[in-house]
Amino acid sequence: MKRIFNHLTMTLATAAALTACQPQSNGIRLEHQGDTLTIVHITNPTRYLILPIQESCNEGKVKLITGSPADMAMDVRLAVDSVEYYVPFALPQGAKEATVTIGRVAANAICWDSIRLADTFDTTNTDYYRPVYHHTPLYGWMNDANGLVYKDGEYHLYFQYNPYGSKWGNMHWGHSVSRDLIHWEHLDPAIARDTLGHIFSGSSVIDKNNSAGYGKDAMIAFYTSASDEHGQIQCMAYSNDNGRTYTKYEKNPILTPFDGLKDFRDPKVFWYEPAQKWYMIVSADKNMRFYSSTDMKNWEYLSQFGEGYGVQPNQFECPDFVQLPVDGNKDNMKWVMIVNINPGCPFGGSATEYFVGEFDGKEFKCDTDKSVTKWLDFGKDHYATVCFSNTGDRTIAVPWMSNWQYANVTPIRQYRGANALPRELSLYTKNGEIYMAANAVKETEGLRKGTTPVNDFTLADEHLVSPLATGAEGACELEMDITPGKAQATGFQLLNDKGEKVDIYLDMKAGRLVMDRTQSGLTAFGEKAEPHAKETDDHRKTESVNYINDFALGTWAPLSLCEGKTYHLDVFVDKCSVEIFVDGGRIAMTNLVFPTQPYNTLRFYTQGGEAEVKNLKVHQLGL
Ligand code: FRU
Repeated sequence: MKRIFNHLTMTLATAAALTACQPQSNGIRLEHQGDTLTIVHITNPTRYLILPIQESCNEGKVKLITGSPADMAMDVRLAVDSVEYYVPFALPQGAKEATVTIGRVAANAICWDSIRLADTFDTTNTDYYRPVYHHTPLYGWMNDANGLVYKDGEYHLYFQYNPYGSKWGNMHWGHSVSRDLIHWEHLDPAIARDTLGHIFSGSSVIDKNNSAGYGKDAMIAFYTSASDEHGQIQCMAYSNDNGRTYTKYEKNPILTPFDGLKDFRDPKVFWYEPAQKWYMIVSADKNMRFYSSTDMKNWEYLSQFGEGYGVQPNQFECPDFVQLPVDGNKDNMKWVMIVNINPGCPFGGSATEYFVGEFDGKEFKCDTDKSVTKWLDFGKDHYATVCFSNTGDRTIAVPWMSNWQYANVTPIRQYRGANALPRELSLYTKNGEIYMAANAVKETEGLRKGTTPVNDFTLADEHLVSPLATGAEGACELEMDITPGKAQATGFQLLNDKGEKVDIYLDMKAGRLVMDRTQSGLTAFGEKAEPHAKETDDHRKTESVNYINDFALGTWAPLSLCEGKTYHLDVFVDKCSVEIFVDGGRIAMTNLVFPTQPYNTLRFYTQGGEAEVKNLKVHQLGL
């Protein structure tokens, strides 16, 4: 990830000190109208009003007043008794004055001492757990990947983004671009929350035939506007500058639920060649609904799929629908419906399942029985996974690397939310069944900064590889072929000097690959919270769950998906994550971990028989 650092002319600390000495100077006059409303009068506005944040506070309402009916209050947790960090609130440029109203923040809150104007905002990393090579926002909250699209050499990664704090809220589409899927450049948010609601998840396409009338090759984004007032409705916006800025369609919404459904979101749009039409799939509670259109503005309902399929109970979110060759044979193409569900993960919370079948232009028919569930990833931190459009023969998916059970309280502050590595999807058969493999894209080889091969060894008891030749801050990729032979269990621990460890092993008795993170480092970061005290009916707003049980656990995958005898493991370790890909992605497993110092030792072990470890390579990773 390429980080673009903007620097404050003054450091935050100096600025705070200055503000304290000269309260309400520097172009800001505060007018408190009781405890419910403060009017911030600004003369000669700089680029930003810098807002002090305290995450445990209730959300205040911050609104730039322009006099337009489109003025929209943003929800900001302004600091009441201690400032944890700051966020920038953009001010209009060129005017002599600006007015911002702030509601629901007490007149004696501490934020009023350090609210200030600035032309720059320092995004230098301050988080210990910031990944070395995974995509994260510079600051603020991120969840689902949105609108993934490739155009003119750039991969566009939009994402659910809160620019006003590191907890869920104020959904915008944040934006980063990459030419190689590993180095990301951060751009300004592309679509901002508005009076129709939060800008929830969705997709983007390239309008090659100018179906929507915004020009050939315009980028068209589809998203859900979500608000209490209007519910969940589908909207569109277009871009003629390669996705940097979007204009919202003036007649939004383009689609509302015919039955008033409350959960109706995350539109996935794709071109369906046989019908020469655009298709949209919208998650509709426990179904995925299909629509078609010629102009992208008028949508006709076709069918729905899903009720009763896969894990129960569930809530469908973030659909994707891709056509792939089975075992690389283009004469045998299958459709795959990707369904993100929350709850439903076998280990609790959020997960991604998929269904393989046929599509006739109207209905999707799944090949397997309703009770069959196939998982795209067997970890606990893989969600809202969707694919890029316009990538030709390649199908590349990007997951959000977290879980709604604890996403809002991970031990991170400046930002929250990372993407797992982009994955190449393909179909393979095992025992007559078709499955989807998800392997790290080959571009990740570009992360390798040096490789240390380790001699093959027979594992009779234990074998240490120490110190591990990793890149900065423990970032590495471990490749190896393990043959368990007669061992009952064999594998390795990723260890640090404090004894914190991630245990990764093949449990041959149970036929499972296991990743155990119970002793991986910080695992009880929500410890003080009352178990399940503040859960709400909106999972995104859950503030306090029993994190000890929800976070710290092992996850497992069936080894029957693999080829057998020898297992090729490709393990990616970053500051706060471990991703495993077995046999080219037949098993993918993604889990967050929070070691208090980097893992620097591999301790191999076996139980009940000898095992062979061959072709072990330790790649240092970095950008
Ligand atoms: C999935 C999800 C989506 C929704 C978005 C809101 O994680 O709940 O269904 O569009 O997050 O941020």
